[in-house]
Amino acid sequence: MQNLKLSIDYNKYNDIGELSSRDQELVVEARKAANDAYAPYSNFYVGAAVLLENGVIVRGSNQENAAYPAGLCAERVAVFAAGAQHPGIKIISIAITAHPKDSVAPSVAISPCGDCRQVMAEYEHRYEHTIRLIMESGEGSFIMTDSAASLLPFIFSGKALR
Ligand code: THU
Repeated sequence: MQNLKLSIDYNKYNDIGELSSRDQELVVEARKAANDAYAPYSNFYVGAAVLLENGVIVRGSNQENAAYPAGLCAERVAVFAAGAQHPGIKIISIAITAHPKDSVAPSVAISPCGDCRQVMAEYEHRYEHTIRLIMESGEGSFIMTDSAASLLPFIFSGKALR
């Protein structure tokens, strides 16, 4: 028997001013997206902004449904929109932010759900390029990781289907 460990690297920034201007712009776009969320059931407004290799930014927000599982998270809305509207263009980064209804400040920490991690990892595979995640994590701070797959140890990938 072997006892093994996995660890991940991530960076924490305590103020938006510590981010590059490109990342700050992406966060601002994600915040705009959150304001457009359709979230009448959870009242939890999530926004995502995807930066493509050609500089285009694609926004997404959570889209809920009375049949709850039919709704979709902001990250997948943004990534699928990018994949559909800009096929073949690599995704470089995604910024994610969230706030409860009636609270404009993105005061809550957001971290993508497992399905969204799986989808982002698929796009890393599709474009053979890692996606940087910039997650607004409350009180003006941010957490950044270099790839989506790093958040999914023992990921299921297409390799198993060959
Ligand atoms: N949600 C997202 O859009 N992204 C996440 O990373 C976590 C959760 C949405 C799904 C649902 O509309 C609401 O937040 C509450 O779970």
